[in-house]
Amino acid sequence: MTKTMVKSVKRGDARREMSSQPWLHQHGREIQKFGDVRQFPLGLSFDARGYACQRLNQLLCDTAILYALYKKHHWLVRGPTFYQLHLLFDKHAGEQAALIDAIAERVQTLGGIAVGDPRHAAEITHIPRPPDGCEEVPAMLSRLLEAHEIILIDAHEAAAKLADMGDDGSNDLIVSSLIRTNELQAWFLAEHLVDTPLVRA
Ligand SMILES: [Fe+2]
Repeated sequence: MTKTMVKSVKRGDARREMSSQPWLHQHGREIQKFGDVRQFPLGLSFDARGYACQRLNQLLCDTAILYALYKKHHWLVRGPTFYQLHLLFDKHAGEQAALIDAIAERVQTLGGIAVGDPRHAAEITHIPRPPDGCEEVPAMLSRLLEAHEIILIDAHEAAAKLADMGDDGSNDLIVSSLIRTNELQAWFLAEHLVDTPLVRA
């Protein structure tokens, strides 16, 4: 785009002169701050929706970090169990990705702002950061199990509080999807840490 063309876009008469030119490089103010909650007619109090958004965003950030941890281990895993763990970690990552979307959209449904930037999630998460390099497989599995338990402890507490405040939808999402998925994935991981012989009993 030439300088003359840019000027004509800024003058506002571009629709006639350049009807198919996209309006690029637009920057604006935030129209809803993170932490603010809009008024939606859902039969839930403002306080209940605000509290739910806060609890859901914590679970969202921890889930996003757990997802990333699964992908990291999917790529870095090695040793005799490489193939099965490579596939299992990716399966679990996919299920965590589905949870991320469901939790984020629940926050939006309640009028809040879902954490979307991974750098923002990293500031909020309670899950410890792994080394940038590669750990041995049992340490990978333990790290994942600990992450699951951090999420599960928080999820049980949040689900009970949200039910008390009348937010059945958030309670249902946390109990039926988040808790059940994390429990099942924890089982699949834990069975890999049983020290059992591979060939001879
Ligand atoms: Fe892959």
